[in-house]
Amino acid sequence: MKHLISIDDLTRTDAMTLLDTAEAMAQTQSRRIKKLPVLRGRTVATLFFEDSTRTRLSFETAAKRLSMDVISFSARGSSVSKGESLKDTAQTIVAMGAEALIVRHSASGAPHRLAHAGWVDVPILNAGDGKHQHPTQALLDAFTIRRHLYTGANQPAPTGSDLDGITVAITGDVLHSRVVRSNVQLLTLLGAHVILVAPPTLLPSDTEDWPCEISYDLDEVIARHPFALMMLRVQRERMTGGGGGFFPSPSEYQRCYGLDSSRLAALGPQAIIMHPGPMNRGLEITAEAADSSQSVVTEQVSNGVSVRMAALYLLLAHGEEISQ
Ligand code: NCD
Repeated sequence: MKHLISIDDLTRTDAMTLLDTAEAMAQTQSRRIKKLPVLRGRTVATLFFEDSTRTRLSFETAAKRLSMDVISFSARGSSVSKGESLKDTAQTIVAMGAEALIVRHSASGAPHRLAHAGWVDVPILNAGDGKHQHPTQALLDAFTIRRHLYTGANQPAPTGSDLDGITVAITGDVLHSRVVRSNVQLLTLLGAHVILVAPPTLLPSDTEDWPCEISYDLDEVIARHPFALMMLRVQRERMTGGGGGFFPSPSEYQRCYGLDSSRLAALGPQAIIMHPGPMNRGLEITAEAADSSQSVVTEQVSNGVSVRMAALYLLLAHGEEISQ
């Protein structure tokens, strides 16, 4: 594995290695001193051309926990506003010594371009590109589901454990979501059955080719008691052009596709509730559901650090021991 651009590029063995390495990283994160010397003095850069809170902080935290130096770039306030290109920006940062680039971009395919156009020769980690892929989010989601499946809590899952036979329902704005694309691929690679639930207006036209089931009826899917229910954010900032019209009104969306306390009750106590964040409380999820004991939203955030440590370690460490 030279880059982490898309779940498509991973074999089941690669995915398992990432998850198992993330477990090894997580073991070190309950210590009082969380920093590992394994990548000491190595340099990584975060290049964010789109806004982010948790993904950027999570990657930076992961790098620092591996004792790396972090160069932090965001398009806002940079020479991108003067028209500087992705290529020149990346080459400038690599010239300052960055040995890997963590990239978020509104254009689908931008990290792939960086990895394969010959502009720079360092590992590229995709931190979300357009509506395309968000591989580390899918990995942290799979990691969180795997832990709950095997231990009933956010406790270490056995090495090599998969998601065979479980059902995961993913509900909401599928059309604009890179999280869902990566998740459908990764969860099915690990053996889960995935059901996507959305209004027809928020489903892409090519979903027949996706390895999952499609439903328009959240209550019917909930009645089948999925092991995990993942709510996707309604991405209003991407609903420009075409005059809107993706759903009649926020209250109508909430009524048909929102997770509220009655749907939470129907789901049953075995299910975990997930959301990649940021949440629109009161739209796709009520505050009560978001804060319920079945919600694993903050665990997803903690696990994200371990997963990103694993990704950086596997791309950069070349077999050095994790914990000293
Ligand atoms: C997601 C993203 O940016 O794709 N957020 C995240 O990375 N945690 C999902 C979203 O923005 O809704």
